[in-house]
Amino acid sequence: MKTALITGASRGIGKAIKALLEEERGFSVYAPSRQDMDLTQETSINAYLATIPHGVDVLVNCAGVNDLAGLEEITDEKINKMLSVNLLAQLHLIKWAAPFMKEKKYGRIVNFSSIWGEFSKTRRLLYSMAKAGINGLTRAAAVELAPYNILVNAVAPGFVNTEMTCVNNTPEQIKQIVQQLPVKRLAQPDEIAQLVGFLASEQNSFMTGQVLYVDGGFSCV
Ligand SMILES: NC(=O)c1ccc[n+]([C@@H]2O[C@H](COP(=O)([O-])OP(=O)(O)OC[C@H]3O[C@@H](n4cnc5c(N)ncnc54)[C@H](OP(=O)(O)O)[C@@H]3O)[C@@H](O)[C@H]2O)c1
Repeated sequence: MKTALITGASRGIGKAIKALLEEERGFSVYAPSRQDMDLTQETSINAYLATIPHGVDVLVNCAGVNDLAGLEEITDEKINKMLSVNLLAQLHLIKWAAPFMKEKKYGRIVNFSSIWGEFSKTRRLLYSMAKAGINGLTRAAAVELAPYNILVNAVAPGFVNTEMTCVNNTPEQIKQIVQQLPVKRLAQPDEIAQLVGFLASEQNSFMTGQVLYVDGGFSCV
């Protein structure tokens, strides 16, 4: 049975990925809550990882935060939180997972980027910075790990119907966003999970280092 570690699976996209891998693909899934593994705390990350002695076949770095802040609102505390949860924890988990995957000569890693890793919007500076970092991390890790049959890709969603979108945009703003999107609707979490399901499987045998946009056409207009 293949094993997977998924962060951010308490709700939203991560929850849909957990359901897909566990219920439809027969994975044994580790899905630590924030209480089990707080991604802002290195000691908490290390303590949780120590409970998985043989590593995993698949790592899905889905947890993320998007606390909005413009340049003048940015504090050291916000920088630390946004970069640790959205970027440094992913690096930490890849560094942990890679030696086990190398040993097995098999691994699939899926990181979470965003349209804001390439584009941006006011008060998304730290988020854009972190997600652009994810794009670089994905490409660099892919190059380094490819000889071991470890494939590393990133999914970059557009607007998904989760708490993150609803907290950061008013209902009126969401209406306007939807009107501007070619598909005229938000994505549902499961539509993002389906792509992760492919990237996390043996069906993906040759794609690595890619940042894949699942954005209903946002990046085309
Ligand atoms: N929603 C979108 O439209 C959208 C668009 C582009 C990219 N994304 C990206 O997709 C991923 C999933 O987004 P989502 O919309 O599903 O988000 P969400 O509904 O806000 O869920 C975020 C998840 O991350 C976890 N998390 C946050 N801080 C954490 C910490 N310090 N330690 C451990 N876990 C932590 C949360 O756990 P708790 O339940 O404990 O808070 C939750 O499970 C994120 O990386 C996000 O940046 C989302």
